[in-house]
This record gives sequence, C-alpha cells and structure tokens, in this order.
Amino acid sequence: MPTSTKEGFATKAIHAGQDPLQWTHCSVIPPIVMSTTYRQDGPAQHRGFEYGRSGNPTRTVLETCLAAIENGKHGLAFSSGLGATTALASLLGGGDHIVCCDDVYGGTNRYFRTCLSKNGIGVTFTDATSINNVVNSIRPNTKMIWLETPTNPLLKIIDIKAVIDTVKAIRSDIITVVDNSFVTCYFQKPLDLGADFVVYSLSKYMNGHSDVIMGAAITQRDDLEERLRYIQNALGIVPSPFDCQQVNRSLKTLEVRMEKHMANGLAVAKFLESHPRVEKVFHPFLPSHPQHELAKKQQTGHSGMVTFYIKDNSHKFLKALKIFTLAESLGGYESLAELPSVMTHASLTPEARDALGINDKLIRLSVGLETEADLIADLDQALKASQM
Ligand SMILES: Cc1ncc(COP(=O)(O)O)c(C=O)c1O
Repeated sequence: MPTSTKEGFATKAIHAGQDPLQWTHCSVIPPIVMSTTYRQDGPAQHRGFEYGRSGNPTRTVLETCLAAIENGKHGLAFSSGLGATTALASLLGGGDHIVCCDDVYGGTNRYFRTCLSKNGIGVTFTDATSINNVVNSIRPNTKMIWLETPTNPLLKIIDIKAVIDTVKAIRSDIITVVDNSFVTCYFQKPLDLGADFVVYSLSKYMNGHSDVIMGAAITQRDDLEERLRYIQNALGIVPSPFDCQQVNRSLKTLEVRMEKHMANGLAVAKFLESHPRVEKVFHPFLPSHPQHELAKKQQTGHSGMVTFYIKDNSHKFLKALKIFTLAESLGGYESLAELPSVMTHASLTPEARDALGINDKLIRLSVGLETEADLIADLDQALKASQM
C-alpha cells in the first residue's frame, strides 16, 4: 500500500508495503512465500519474481516498509547487519579508502581492518565527533565515510548533518553511510540529514525480539540502489522469507517499543547516576552528557542503551544480576548487560580499546521492556554485590 510522506510513523510502519490487494487471496497479513522459483508466462517473461535470491515477495514487503519508515526510496535487506556492511563495502574497489568513526561496532571495525585490507581497501578510523578529524582523514582515494551514532559502546554523538555537509562540499562523490542500529528511524532519520545510506543490524531494535539475524540498507538514490541491488543478488547475502516476515511484523510495534525503551533506559540512567557505587553514566538524554544539546537536536529520543563505569568489581556485578541477562547483542524486549572489553569489543586491538576507554569497569546495558521498578531493584542489588 503506498503511504504518503505526511502519514505518521506508526501508520507507515503498519501499512507501507502491506496492501492486501497485492495478493490474489487478499490476505491482510503478508504471506511467507517460500518458493525459490517462479513460473514464467514465456521464456524470460516473469511477473516480477524469477528466483528467490534475486527477489522474494515477502522480502519486498519488508523492504518497502523499511524504505517508507526511513523516509527513503529503496530498502534492501541482507542476511545480517555485517552482510549489509559487506554489500556496501562492495561498492568500492581495490585502492579505495574509507573514513570510519573510531567508536564503531567491533565487528564493523574488524571487517574493515582485516577483510577489506585483503581486497586492497584502506580504512582510517577517527573520532568523528570532530569534523576536522574527518576532513583531515580524507584522501584523494576516499570513497566512503562510515558513521555510527550514537557510538558503541560510549554513546558519543556525531553531528550527522554537519559532517555530511562538510564532506559533500569537499567531495560530492564520497558515499556517506550512517549505521542507525542503536536508535532506529523512530528516533533519528539520517537520510533527512543528508546521508546516502542508512545501514542496520535489523537484529537489534528494528526486529526487537532477539530472534532474527538480519541487516538492511536504505537509500533515496536510484543510482546507488541499482548498484547495491546488483550486489545483493550477485553476492547472495539475502535473508530467508521467514525472517523477513518476522522483522516485518516487528516493525508494526517499533514505535511503542522504542517509547518504552526510552522511558526505561532514562529511568535506569538517572538511577545509576545517583548511585554511589557508579563512577560515570553515559546516556545522550542526561543533561550531564557532553553532547546533550546535539542529541536533542538530532534525535527525538534514545533507545535503551546505557553505558557506565562501575567503581567496584564488574564481574561480580554482572554475575549478581537476576533480571538483566549477561549476554551480547542489544535491542530486544529483554534487558541485557555485558562487558564490552571482553565481549562485544574483544576483537579490537588492546591499544584501540585503551584509546576509547573500554576497560574492565565499563558496562553496557540494553534496557528492555520489563517493569521499571524491577529493573532498578535488580541493578541496585547487583551494585551492592559488586563491593563484596
Ligand atoms: C551497531 C551495529 N552495527 C552492525 C552490527 C552487525 O550486525 P549483525 O550482528 O546483524 O551482523 C551490530 C551487531 O551487534 C551492531 O551492534
């Protein structure tokens, strides 16, 4: 169903791409089309779908919905967030160069450093909260700028519009990418701020139920869509129809989930900030956050991601938690806690971890949708246990 750009977020999330009239049986909920191949009317005369890798109706439903809620024109789904990253990097070739923010997801850092270098693609990591750092990192062969904001795990905010406007004024051909996994298009719209691509680990908030690994890239540009669509099929990094249906269903509740993640996350951040066993708390919507004003300008809210330095023993704290589960990943309805230095960010070099301040005292929380008072009571008892 085509939705108008004027419609509200939830209306688009519930209706874009879902028109029952696109199916002869008019099912209100889109079907999971498992067929890998499609009957043709004559040789090379198909009705939009020919083979399950190049296209699938359930995937199209999801991709249309993703494009609509992002204020984009084209959505492309991949079998993981890193699959989407791989596809985007495949727009480049040997001898090209990427400028990437330094506080990026560990897997993105590892892929750029270890896999892309084998293909002759160079990368410079820089603190992109300073526009000068980004500008000074640009080389004649730079073809892509990769931003992730809020950053992971320290929740620094990069000024998307300022960085992209500056980069495009210097070299309009540089492709700009923003990883929006941490806050989603409900709270932040990088395409509206000038980005060429938004990239997602849909495995996080967008799916929100910790039961699908999937990624996506969304763009307004026809030329880039055409190239990426080719890569999607040629590399074959595509998701299953079943998983597409799962994520498509999850998008219907994205707005209500994100509102509750924001409320619970901020309550947890305020509680931690007032706790004597906590050294420092990072949450963009706490007035103490160094870029609080920028966060309020760029984001309409924040997810359940909260990071903090504990004063005492982080291992004892993590083991004492009862409602928060000690696990990697983020963005599900269930609350998670982890130690980035040995878990999500273990693949970084020790020097990179030191430079970013990722140490044994830094804890990352993905605050879920449980009852706020229960989450705070759980953190309180675990903080007490961390002293023993
Ligand atoms: C911000 C961010 N981007 C990308 C990825 C990679 O996504 P996936 O695990 O779906 O491959 C992750 C995974 O944790 C992530 O946190």
